[in-house]
Formats: sequence, structure tokens, C-alpha cells
Amino acid sequence: MLPKAMSVLINAALSSTGLLWIAPNSILVTGIRNDNIVHFVEGQIVHLECKSDLGTPKGTLRWENETKTVLLVNSSDNVILTLKTNRLHHLKYFRCVVDNGFFELSREVQFKLLLVPRVTIQPSGNKEVNESEDLRILCKNDNDSPGDIFTWTFEGRILIEQQPILWLLSITKHDSGQYICKVSNDAGDGRASVNLW
Ligand SMILES: *[C@@H]1O[C@H](CO)[C@@H](O)[C@H](O)[C@H]1NC(C)=O
Ligand SMILES: *[C@@H]1O[C@H](CO)[C@@H](O)[C@H](O)[C@H]1NC(C)=O
Ligand SMILES: *[C@@H]1O[C@H](CO)[C@@H](O)[C@H](O)[C@H]1NC(C)=O
Repeated sequence: MLPKAMSVLINAALSSTGLLWIAPNSILVTGIRNDNIVHFVEGQIVHLECKSDLGTPKGTLRWENETKTVLLVNSSDNVILTLKTNRLHHLKYFRCVVDNGFFELSREVQFKLLLVPRVTIQPSGNKEVNESEDLRILCKNDNDSPGDIFTWTFEGRILIEQQPILWLLSITKHDSGQYICKVSNDAGDGRASVNLW
């Protein structure tokens, strides 16, 4: 077989057995924009459809991730990859490839996921504070996303919203207890807490 790299120079080739190969001239992933990025939410079930005219003879059409082929069809002009996204897919690439044995064409897409918040808080765990001191508690979503909503609760009661930082000024013994920071976005929510005493 001739090297596949030649497919950029020519679009038809005659095999030694007289079979004529014609290059596929289109491959497209439906519903993606020009930047080849697909935006999904963590945990969402997605369908990625790839279409090609296949060329001659009709080749195979496949989806591959960065390490292996995950779905392959033969002689069909479209292939739909269905998967449930998880955080490991974030920023990863998937490639659709049409291959008729001589010519190959491919199209790559990158996944960008809105991830469920993973929340950390500083200080964390159990923290001893002295009366009359001030304390700053910082809450952070490790994968911060633009729509993050912060909610602070103290012993089950909402204290403040929309702020990643909680200030406790001149602490008294009534301030001891559990402080929880919850971060929510369209993918879900996460929380972290600190116990002051
Ligand atoms: C590719 O898919 C296989 C099987 O579905 C999976 O085991 C592997 O981790 C994936 N590789 C990447 C880089 O996502
Ligand atoms: C695709 O199907 C055709 C017809 O059944 C077969 O001759 C060919 O070997 C298949 N190709 C691959 C790559 O499976
Ligand atoms: C609390 O007060 C004690 C005694 O003044 C001091 O040693 C300690 O460092 C203070 N703790 C904090 C968290 O500031």
C-alpha cells in the first residue's frame, strides 16, 4: 500500500489490482463550532455525530480518543459516539477518522467540561481561635467556573451568599461551631467545612 501521506497531494489512486481509490472529501462533526471545542457539563450524556462521504471504496469511520479506537463502523456515512462525560474527559481530544484503506481524513474535537465544584476551605478541619480575634476563612472551587455561587452557612443557618471569603470579626464564644461553604454551578455543587472552637 502507498503511504497515506500522499493523500494530501492526490485524491485518487489506482491499486495494483486495478481498484480505483477515491479520497473522501468531507468529514464533519455535527454541531461543533469553528474552534473545534465542544462544551459539555460533567455527567452529561452526549452524542457526537461524525459524517463523511467515505470516498471509494467506502471505508471505515471511527472515533478514537487519545489512546485507542472507541467506536468503528464500516461502510456507513455516519458514526455516533455516545458517552457520559466524566471529569477525566475535560480538555481531552477525540478524533473522528475516515479511512478507505488508502486515504485517510480526520477531524479532532476537544472537550471542555463544566465540572462539578471541588471545594477547599482555608483554614480547614478543626481550628482553635482566641476570643476577640478576627478570622478570614477562604473558600475556593479548585476548578473555578464563571457562574460559581458561594453560600456560607453556620450551624445550618445561611450567613452570606456570593462571597468566597467569610470574615469573622472580634470572635466571641457564640461564633464557635461549624462553618460550611457550598459552591454551586450548573454541573452540581460541592462543599467544605471548618469547625471553630
Ligand atoms: C480511551 O478509551 C479507553 C476505553 O474506552 C479508556 O480506557 C482510555 O482511558 C481512554 N483514553 C483516554 C486518554 O481517555
Ligand atoms: C468493510 O466491509 C467490507 C464488506 O463487508 C469488507 O470487505 C471490508 O473488509 C470491511 N473493512 C474493514 C476495515 O472492516
Ligand atoms: C491565642 O492566644 C495565645 C495566648 O495569647 C497565643 O499563644 C496563640 O498564638 C493565639 N492563637 C491564635 C490562633 O492566634
